[in-house]
Amino acid sequence: MNKQDYLELCQEIRRHDIAYYIHAQASIPDYDYDQLYQKLLSLEKKHPEWVTPDSPSQKVGGVVLTEFRQITHRIPMQSLDNTYSEAELRDFAARVDRLLEGREVVWILEPKVDGVAVSLRYEKGRLVSAATRGDGVTGDDITENIRTIRQLPLEIPGTPDVLEVRGEVYMSFPSFQQLNRMREEAGEPLFANARNASAGTLKLLDSKLVAKRPLSLVLYGAGEITGAGLEKQSDFLKALAGWGFPVPEWWATVRGVDALLEALHELDGRRRSFNYPTDGAVIKVDSFEQRGWLGSTSKAPRWAIAYKFAPEQAETTLRAVTFQVGRSGVITPVAELEPVQLSGTTVSRATLHNFEEIKRKDIRVGDRVVVEKAGEIIPAVVKVQTSQRPKQAQVITAPSVCPCPRQSSELAWEGLFYKCTHALCPGQTKRRLQHFAHRGAMDIEGLGEALVEQLVDKGMLSNFADIYRLRTEDVAGLERMGRKSAENLIHAITQSKVQPLWRLIFGLGIPHVGAGLARKLAAAYPDLDALISATVEELIQVEDVGEIVARSIYETFRRPEMLELLEQLRQAGLNFQSRQEIGKDGPLKGLTFVITGTLSKPRPSFESEIRSLGGEVTGSVSSKTSYVLAGDEAGSKLDKARKLGVKVINEAEFENLARPSGGL
Ligand code: IVH
Repeated sequence: MNKQDYLELCQEIRRHDIAYYIHAQASIPDYDYDQLYQKLLSLEKKHPEWVTPDSPSQKVGGVVLTEFRQITHRIPMQSLDNTYSEAELRDFAARVDRLLEGREVVWILEPKVDGVAVSLRYEKGRLVSAATRGDGVTGDDITENIRTIRQLPLEIPGTPDVLEVRGEVYMSFPSFQQLNRMREEAGEPLFANARNASAGTLKLLDSKLVAKRPLSLVLYGAGEITGAGLEKQSDFLKALAGWGFPVPEWWATVRGVDALLEALHELDGRRRSFNYPTDGAVIKVDSFEQRGWLGSTSKAPRWAIAYKFAPEQAETTLRAVTFQVGRSGVITPVAELEPVQLSGTTVSRATLHNFEEIKRKDIRVGDRVVVEKAGEIIPAVVKVQTSQRPKQAQVITAPSVCPCPRQSSELAWEGLFYKCTHALCPGQTKRRLQHFAHRGAMDIEGLGEALVEQLVDKGMLSNFADIYRLRTEDVAGLERMGRKSAENLIHAITQSKVQPLWRLIFGLGIPHVGAGLARKLAAAYPDLDALISATVEELIQVEDVGEIVARSIYETFRRPEMLELLEQLRQAGLNFQSRQEIGKDGPLKGLTFVITGTLSKPRPSFESEIRSLGGEVTGSVSSKTSYVLAGDEAGSKLDKARKLGVKVINEAEFENLARPSGGL
């Protein structure tokens, strides 16, 4: 492969990106795409001098910032006047007509994307900077984060010398839901809606983390532009699409206010099928010349208005408030509602978030309440109809003890939340055991939520180790549990003992450690004991582990009850070795490695990688050694290898061995 081939590969990948992200039509199967992408990465590893900022690989940035630089917008980013009323929309149109003294107006109606406003600047066809709106005059420089959006062209031939394009960064519903699922697994707080998730993601200083949360973009506006010769918004949108930018998939140009309202209703009918959250329409004068005549007020242009659709709401009665205790002891109040139809689903429960919220909204049992679903997964109680409050409505008091069956554990007030402080709280115990056994963790078939409830209530389970003490005769005879099911359950429990180490690490429920991170931890250490004895400094070396996560892991493994529990699990025969993940027919099968010198990752990480690919690692060089993997300042082992004629390789060569498909 020469440089020309490399450039062609870049082009090919860009073409597939445009087909996939912009035209929503994959031009090759995912697998083939991944192969091309891997090929690109391995070429770039061999020839770092070929890589330019517009390579498809550079869309996943790697710079960690300590704070955002500020960028002053050449043309301020204004906001829009808002209305929820069709009458006001008619007033707006009449005002524009008046100001234009009877000249005919063509209106353009676009979806109002509910994302985070950004402005991107291209100079001579290259993306040079990206900024948030900030206060409209100055925003955060989020160039690195924006580069992670694969839909976005980084270099476009044939554009005006200066091209500033504006639009919204958003997170699609599936990506948002997946992100929240991962956060739930990791015990991190959930984002209330997709908009908050995108805003939170753009604020991350480490663009590597941003790259893992798929953001998307849609563009609709112009900042500074030189020499494009465009006369109206509809042409501008077409030009944007032609340059490869993602634009709204639907917009309409109409004449007259009646046609405008009709288009608005059409949009309302279509918007739920869009890829992005839409909370309304933006109605604009199409002609740029007419916009110039209309001008702006200090806050907003006179040529546009935002019309917001009312969020979907329903009114119902609050029957009761129940309390739930989570895995970490946080108590959440839940509204039990008279079932009501909302956005096509029946809603009978809604979150009340926390007690401050209940107080602030003055919510009482028996009240008529308004529930709303505005892109959130769980509906929320947004309002109380206090005027309709029945006399017997009851003030909601916080529980004084944990809502779990024990009902005796004291609660501690921690900021917004009550937390159960009891180490043996059965409510928390149930959530922890359910997490341990569930499909994503130890995957014990048959040990579902209902059975865990029963076993804990009967006093047969109080920690992970108890699971491995269950016998067939203990469980046979429980509710919906015959002899055969009991045998199957015990079999599944026994089988789970040899699960890969990452499943156990994940199952332990260490705060901030989700399944993905558990895999990385298992890969970085030869066994659980090595992970347990790792210091905070060592843990930070593992990919994706930061200070907070490292401390959380370190502290979890310093708690005496955790160590006691792990000892019991060891006695029960659970697998503590990463090696169990060995790919017996891996590419390193039959090869013996000696590792020496300073490498880019901790040595155990290489050791477990070699083992997981079927190779072996030994401590000293002999004629049987296949390769010596040598880093900087390798000493006597390197000399011995040379003497014996053992092949010495560096990290890049090792990667090629380990991933032969990438070696071209
Ligand atoms: S045009 C001078 N078009 O909604 C401002 N804005 O509520 C011109 N927005 O500030 C903005 N979709 O952040 C425009 N199709 C669209 C939009 C849109 C969403 C955002 C934008 C704006 C805010 C106003």
